[in-house]
Amino acid sequence: MLTQRPRGTSDILPGVSEQWQRLEQAVRDTCRLYNFKEIRTPVFEHTELFARGVGETTDIVEKEMYTFTDRGDRSLTLRPEGTAGVVRAYVENKLFGSPDAVKMYYVGPMFRYEKPQKGRDRQFHQYGCEVFGSEDPGVDAEVIALNLHILDNLGVKGVTVELNSVGCSVCRPLHKKDMIERLLPVADRLCKDCQARLEKNPLRIFDCKNESCQALLKEVGAPTIAESLCDECQTHFSGVQGALDAMDVDYRLNPYLVRGLDYYTRTAWEYVVEGFSSIGGGGRYNGLVAQVGGPETPGIGFAGGMERVLMVLAEQSKEAVELPLLDLYVVGVDASGQLAAAKLLQQARKSGVSADRDYLQRSVKAQFKAADRLNARYVAVLGETEVAQGRVALKNLATGEQVDMTWADAILQVQQRGV
Ligand code: HAM
Repeated sequence: MLTQRPRGTSDILPGVSEQWQRLEQAVRDTCRLYNFKEIRTPVFEHTELFARGVGETTDIVEKEMYTFTDRGDRSLTLRPEGTAGVVRAYVENKLFGSPDAVKMYYVGPMFRYEKPQKGRDRQFHQYGCEVFGSEDPGVDAEVIALNLHILDNLGVKGVTVELNSVGCSVCRPLHKKDMIERLLPVADRLCKDCQARLEKNPLRIFDCKNESCQALLKEVGAPTIAESLCDECQTHFSGVQGALDAMDVDYRLNPYLVRGLDYYTRTAWEYVVEGFSSIGGGGRYNGLVAQVGGPETPGIGFAGGMERVLMVLAEQSKEAVELPLLDLYVVGVDASGQLAAAKLLQQARKSGVSADRDYLQRSVKAQFKAADRLNARYVAVLGETEVAQGRVALKNLATGEQVDMTWADAILQVQQRGV
């Protein structure tokens, strides 16, 4: 046990963490272009927030939460997703006082007690964006496009947006009534999960992976929610599609798309790449801020699954990932050389040059080998003569050229990017 991490978690090791940094950087850079600001909320919240926010009837709340009682007898839960915490922070910090739409993004770990498998972990990571204060269908389109932009910057290929509208508090209850009327007489032919869904949230039956349930929906002629939208939801949904068309964003209407969280109203979508499970998803949640205790405020957002995005990237770009270069490796020939190396390293690093040296008193040959392993661009050699003269022998490892120069010149040369 001591040397085994908990099931469904992973160690992100050097060599792989660079890919994570690249993804995080793409998120930050793209969010800046769309004028989203970062928010960081706690990794745990009061259990009640998720029960109320994410929804009592969702799989997440029913069976996937990491809930514990702290020493003060409070029930707390490791966040299973980011939206509820951001909504809580929006209300608690009265961000609704802003005259403008509030646009925020986040990056961080989430926790769900799921059955671990490829692309499904118990601790996983999401990046996500949320916008508060606008019902404009143009915002829906912009939020959908934002993640496509991030994925495109990273070089993820073949992403499709699957789009639906799941209605609102006007049309959903009517749809629910209709579903119950049609399915109740044949309820015994639904799977156990769907029998429970029929009572609590029949819309989610469309999400059932069981073919017999899907066949039964067809048999009784159950209408999709997309066919049952009220006029306002229909107009809004057309507006979203019009805005996406105007922005040249491709999407595929999927009237069967139902998201696994209860807070969604109107627009709902997922980012899919063939052969992989969904790499992200989002939607509108116009009732959530009020439900959490704030003023009626429309909201919308999405989250991307970072493990899944990286998995797709790894599959799509099979060629070996380049090790990041080290700018400079400093070789100390003897003890005084190593002491001088410590000083040169300080100067180099303060000048923005990434630099390293040997800490094991190894031979010059072994130090050069280490420089190769680290993929260094330059090696600076400090022998007796160099130390005495305050100079250094700088070797360009790509060309093999070695020149004697002052420390300042050596640092300047290494600073000039490119070999
Ligand atoms: P979600 O669909 O539950 O939505 O999660 C978003 C993404 O997180 C999924 O598409 C998937 O890529 C990734 N994901 C979810 N569970 C796991 C897991 N166990 N292991 C690995 N990856 C996983 C939400 O969480 C909403 N908060 C999104 C949102 C933001 N809606 C509005 N604003």
